[in-house]
Amino acid sequence: MSSNVTPTSTPVKTTGLHVGDAGPGCRKVDPILIADNVRRTFGGLTAVDVEHVEVPRGAITALIGPNGAGKTTLFNLLTGFDKPDSGKWEFDGRSLAHVPAYRVARMGLIRTFQLTKSLALLTVLDNMKLGAKGQIGENLFRSFLPFLWRKQDDEIEAKALEILARFKLDTKKDDYAASLSGGQRKLLEMARALMSDPTLVMLDEPMAGVNPALTQSLLDHVLDLKSKGMTVLFVEHDMHMVRHIADWVIVMAEGKIVAEGDPHLVMQDPAVIDAYLGAHHDADIGTTDTEHVEVLKELIDDEQ
Ligand SMILES: Nc1ncnc2c1ncn2[C@@H]1O[C@H](COP(=O)(O)OP(=O)(O)O)[C@@H](O)[C@H]1O
Ligand SMILES: [Mg+2]
Repeated sequence: MSSNVTPTSTPVKTTGLHVGDAGPGCRKVDPILIADNVRRTFGGLTAVDVEHVEVPRGAITALIGPNGAGKTTLFNLLTGFDKPDSGKWEFDGRSLAHVPAYRVARMGLIRTFQLTKSLALLTVLDNMKLGAKGQIGENLFRSFLPFLWRKQDDEIEAKALEILARFKLDTKKDDYAASLSGGQRKLLEMARALMSDPTLVMLDEPMAGVNPALTQSLLDHVLDLKSKGMTVLFVEHDMHMVRHIADWVIVMAEGKIVAEGDPHLVMQDPAVIDAYLGAHHDADIGTTDTEHVEVLKELIDDEQ
């Protein structure tokens, strides 16, 4: 599972992100996202129960934790794709509770999915165009004034082609998304996210299922988001990648934030090892949770 990829250049880590001691729910110097008492239950199961968490602006934060910890559910809640039982959160100083996903996206918070959501029966270019926000053509009144939206459509297309070129997908622009490999679809999803000029990009397992030939490129793209001034929050199981590119790590287990800190220091926190051990022990007998064992090995390696 470990890709052992290293970015082409050594990433410059952003430090000095938190106030006071690093730990679950610690304050940040300049948080872009602040969540309080966000809870989501499914029947009797508490999937997310986050008392307080802040995501630092302008940095790359990794959200880690064993399968079932609640990472995807927290992403869904924060981006309006799911509704919490209770809780409030704000993005860039604006409350996001009860704001639907499409509006959250327009406010500058974009997420990608663990399982890619590119529309298979649309071309790569059309997938990109769907990512553009505030399209004049969407508005019925303005759609009677084609000169307005045609100009905008040209601009959107030019922007899409420029981003596709950066992601080396420009030669595929007229292909159906269905014809892309899993890794290329992940790239397309990230590329599409950039169409709306987000300020916060949330990536749910961007590397999962990606061919090693493409992981390097994905990793460089994540670093590129930061260098362009965006904030990144990403879920990832590959601890090598987390250590290489994350400025900050937040650890979830059983719905709660159990540790936070600098990537190297947080991985030595016994709470992190406990989180993975706990999840491993709870796994049904017979299901070998190799991913957790792999993460544990990497955590132990880091201590040496
Ligand atoms: N729609 C759902 N219905 C019922 N249970 C769910 C649903 N979504 C997630 N869960 C449960 O919530 C817990 C957290 O899941 P998830 O957020 O996907 O974890 P992670 O992304 O950390 O692996 C798991 O126990 C999962 O089975
Ligand atoms: Mg998940």
